[in-house]
Amino acid sequence: MALLQKKFFGRLAKSIIFALLNFFFFSKTLYDRLGAENFFGKFGELLGHKILKDSLLGPKYSQTDFQKVHGLRMQFLKTLFGGPGKYEGRDMKTAHSGQQLNDQHFDRFANVFEEALSELKANECLIKEAMALLETLRPDVLNK
Ligand code: HEM
Repeated sequence: MALLQKKFFGRLAKSIIFALLNFFFFSKTLYDRLGAENFFGKFGELLGHKILKDSLLGPKYSQTDFQKVHGLRMQFLKTLFGGPGKYEGRDMKTAHSGQQLNDQHFDRFANVFEEALSELKANECLIKEAMALLETLRPDVLNK
């Protein structure tokens, strides 16, 4: 437990440092630096494909309207990365409670997320920044 807390706060500290660096030195959001709507549109499409064809993640969506959920997910991520628009779905804890998700699911999600960013040739530093932000969602998505 203490180790998990340490890990979580370590990651949180990392993403806060990234966010501060971003604010003071780049003054542009991660969303903009990744390439804004032009990038996010392609990223959303590629990520959606990867999730659906993944043998661990895909079957989890068998009872849901994938396009609707994916649309909400991309708006959530856009907001998280400092993009425009307002996320109007459920909070991460509520949306994932009862889904029986564990670290394996989250790790796999993080893998396909990183793969999609790499395949679209996002800058290595920006990928690291995005991954640190994504990681902050783990406790809520897994209802820890
Ligand atoms: C890690 C980042 C993740 C984000 C940002 C995210 C985001 C979202 C969002 C925004 C929704 C819709 C909320 C709503 O209905 O109002 C949702 C639903 C859902 N997510 Fe995630 N999710 C993540 C990880 C995962 C993982 C790892 C899985 C496992 C496959 C998963 C499975 C689902 C399922 C099955 C639903 C539909 C729930 C339902 O129909 O009630 N999510 N997610």
